[in-house]
Amino acid sequence: MNPSRLPQEYRLVELDEIDSTNDEAKRLAAAGAPEGTLVWARCQTVGRGRRGRAWSSRRGNLFASIIVRPDCAPLQAAQLTFAAALAVRDMLTIYIADSASIACKWPNDVLVKGRKISGILLESSTAGQGNVDWLVLGIGVNLRHHPDIGGRHPSTSLIDEGAGEVDLCAALWDFAGAFSRRWKQWRDGGFAPIRDAWLENAFGLGERASIKLERGEFVGGFVGIDANGALRLKAGDGTERLFSAGDVTFGEQS
Ligand code: BTN
Repeated sequence: MNPSRLPQEYRLVELDEIDSTNDEAKRLAAAGAPEGTLVWARCQTVGRGRRGRAWSSRRGNLFASIIVRPDCAPLQAAQLTFAAALAVRDMLTIYIADSASIACKWPNDVLVKGRKISGILLESSTAGQGNVDWLVLGIGVNLRHHPDIGGRHPSTSLIDEGAGEVDLCAALWDFAGAFSRRWKQWRDGGFAPIRDAWLENAFGLGERASIKLERGEFVGGFVGIDANGALRLKAGDGTERLFSAGDVTFGEQS
């Protein structure tokens, strides 16, 4: 492994197999590992997705987690998931010729032609003052395989999208470089430029969206995200509601 193409702010922790790169990054962060620690594993035995779901983690796909230590409140730090989704998208544009087919789906998935190719899992710990102590951003990208998840937004992989065999290290370096640029954009310009770029590439903007809630669901027009990244849905009566978490599907609801 030649880490020379990795931006200098990263410290690579390269593993063959681990339970979850997020769990390893969290252990390292709790033990004081610095910002920029990048945990990469060739496979995970207990890969985790959002909402307690499992994340299929066969060899051949990309599994990595970055430790970030932004000195800000948790709500603000969570904006970095949008920076990470954009960085995954930036990386994918290197391999997929039709960049318009690559979209960011709220809150933090990346789709190609409406199919999920990547997911991001954000986990954090808060220090005494209420500011974030550390943040772990875990990304999974389907390079070679994808699970059969069915549903309105099924999954895909770079191979299935015609990108051919993508070198794992090259994909990791490309993602790390892209995240470094997006992170600096956020640090220097705040959420606005990230939000604008995300909206330019948002999946389903202007379409009907349905969000699953603890009890029932809410259906409305997807009109954007607010200054903190919350989903804005407009109901039939014109009222707008904000959602900070949930599973969303787009398109006509049955
Ligand atoms: C989701 O879409 O539900 C988020 C999936 C996040 C998967 C990645 S793979 C690397 C890191 N380690 C994990 O256990 N999960 C994240």
